[in-house]
Amino acid sequence: MKNIYLNIYRPSLINIIKAKKIINNNNIIGIPTETVYGLGGNAYSDSAVKKIFKLKKRPPINPLIIHYKNLKNLKKDVFINNNFIKLYKNFCPGPITFILYKKPTSNISKIATAGKKTIAIRFPKHTVTRNLLKCLNHPIAAPSANISSKLSPTSAEDVVDEFGKRIKFVLNGGICKIGLESTIIDLTNKPKILRQGAITSKDIYKILKKKILTKNKSKIINSPGQFKLHYFPGIPVFLNKKHPKKYGAFITFGKKFKSDKNSFNLSKNANLNEAAKKLYKIMREIKKKGFKSIAVCKIPDKGLGKAINERLTKASYKWKK
Ligand code: TXA
Ligand code: MG
Repeated sequence: MKNIYLNIYRPSLINIIKAKKIINNNNIIGIPTETVYGLGGNAYSDSAVKKIFKLKKRPPINPLIIHYKNLKNLKKDVFINNNFIKLYKNFCPGPITFILYKKPTSNISKIATAGKKTIAIRFPKHTVTRNLLKCLNHPIAAPSANISSKLSPTSAEDVVDEFGKRIKFVLNGGICKIGLESTIIDLTNKPKILRQGAITSKDIYKILKKKILTKNKSKIINSPGQFKLHYFPGIPVFLNKKHPKKYGAFITFGKKFKSDKNSFNLSKNANLNEAAKKLYKIMREIKKKGFKSIAVCKIPDKGLGKAINERLTKASYKWKK
């Protein structure tokens, strides 16, 4: 069994130094964060960033998130503002990404930002990746470590399942605590949530004390998580169901559902944190077991449930009925 995962490395000091060397050579590694695993590379290097896009089969118009270790380094690349400072003080490091204007003098690869004037930045909380960032003189560009439009990985093994030998080094930081990608908030104008996550619109409102907009469903793609089919497990997904389809699996939530071999409960105690943490893992497991589709029961649309439903809506986009 162990042989399958020869490219997964425990996060010892020696291995973090190895990771640093690989990144400094403009190669790409798998890194753990508290949200999901990322495919990390030197954000100042066009050559590293090109490799990320190629590995992920990511459309070049879809910019990457840049991961920083501290404010001092961020300020070299980005214009900050008051809303940002308030949110930074309350939530960073943590599962939130900010869209801000890029400084014209910034060294961030223009390929990473898809030529945009804005840039998505975040301060990850996972100790392993924070330790890695501390060893580096540049930020890390890291999208989620999955092939474009598929499910994000929540363990080092998921990253290897996704890329096999094409990824030579994954730092093992265990199972991601949150299990869904960071909240994205655009702060270039009135605060606007572009992607729901563990830090909710309510949490943000409590700090900024002003209306928090949420992305409308316009067709303009300014944040590509906004491509319609996304978070796709590889088989059709149907929402708000009471039963599985023939040869299909059933994702449930709460006590009222009985367990059988087709049913996968996100949280018997109806805990949305637990459900978020298990969602992608369970969808991957269902696909691996050979089920032909996934029916999902109704999930409460509040708190972290909004982030779960946002992902599921995109995953089920083609199968509305
Ligand atoms: O939790 C996370 O955010 C993970 C971990 C690895 O940090 N990363 C992640 O990256 O989810 P990715 O690339 O899978 O999703 C980043 C999203 C994409 O939808 C991208 O379009 C959006 O951020 N984005 C990046 N730059 C942007 C910009 N300048 N304006 C608007 N959206 C942007
Ligand atoms: Mg992604």
